[in-house]
Amino acid sequence: MINKIQALQAEIDALTVENKDQAEEMRIKYLSKKGLISQLFGEFRNVPAEDKKAVGQAINDLKDFAQDKINALKEQFEVASTGAEGVDLTAPAEGFQLGTRHPLSVVRNEINEIFTRLGFTIAEGPEIEDDWHVFSALNFPAEHPARDMQDTFFIEKDPDVLLRTHTSSVQVRVMEKTQPPIRAIFPGRVFRNEAISARAHCIFHQVEGLYVDENVSFADLKQTLMYFAKEMFGEKTEIRLRPSYFPFTEPSAEMDVSCSICGGKGCNVCKYTGWLEILGCGMVDPNVLDSCGIDSKKYTGFAFGMGIERITMLKYGIKDLRLYFENDARFLRQFQSAY
Ligand code: PHE
Repeated sequence: MINKIQALQAEIDALTVENKDQAEEMRIKYLSKKGLISQLFGEFRNVPAEDKKAVGQAINDLKDFAQDKINALKEQFEVASTGAEGVDLTAPAEGFQLGTRHPLSVVRNEINEIFTRLGFTIAEGPEIEDDWHVFSALNFPAEHPARDMQDTFFIEKDPDVLLRTHTSSVQVRVMEKTQPPIRAIFPGRVFRNEAISARAHCIFHQVEGLYVDENVSFADLKQTLMYFAKEMFGEKTEIRLRPSYFPFTEPSAEMDVSCSICGGKGCNVCKYTGWLEILGCGMVDPNVLDSCGIDSKKYTGFAFGMGIERITMLKYGIKDLRLYFENDARFLRQFQSAY
């Protein structure tokens, strides 16, 4: 009996397996209920009484030995199956890197948010447009230079299909479909045939605003824009309106805000004037209301339009427009924002 135990121990000691399944087969062969070691316990009955203590001890030791050996065989594959690819499944997970919004999206969302608080809704229109919505309905005379191929990307000349050069086209689409009161802003992409430089691009973004109702006045326009400027650039911001000209507004103005970089004292961003131009605006020309099917005797309205790139440049001190389009992660990662 002792010999048999020793033989089994030597056999088990020399065991090698190639995978986990083989290790399991070995467990069954030696340690299961009908396994070879269990059989030894069966034969134990026939061992003479004086040997029982030593033999019993030897079988128990063999059983422990076999258990340890088979556990070790199994473990070897658990380590190998993860260790082979260098993956430690118990290691804590790596930090999750969140993306950031594009600075233009951050500023657009902030503009949307400010005007939403004033009761403006948000609408969008198509980027591919026709002459009527971009020029004619907006009171551009037939010979206006903006209609020239040099400023506008035409897809087709006849019938005319073109890329919108401003979001004012959405004013027309909204007024054609809705009767006042209308109070909405229109963010979107616009296209102009310009050489790309630090200060100009052929693709950029605008937000247009439109308010049409009875008794809308220039004072309403001014108050709305002042609220916007203070929300966007800070409570101390001042505004100034300079007379200007757009075919679709009368009177028209350009709005400056006090320079947020030097606080109005004069610096190289505001070219030592203390003021930064940020948008064009005015009272909707009655011709435009009539073109869109709105009674210009009953209703008046104001409109404004601003470039998102420019506002973003001023807000974050960005000096080159091309950075917006280059997808350099080092630039983009700097814009962590609530918007
Ligand atoms: N559409 C004008 C532009 O692109 C801006 C503007 C909008 C001016 C609305 C007045 C009113 O420059």
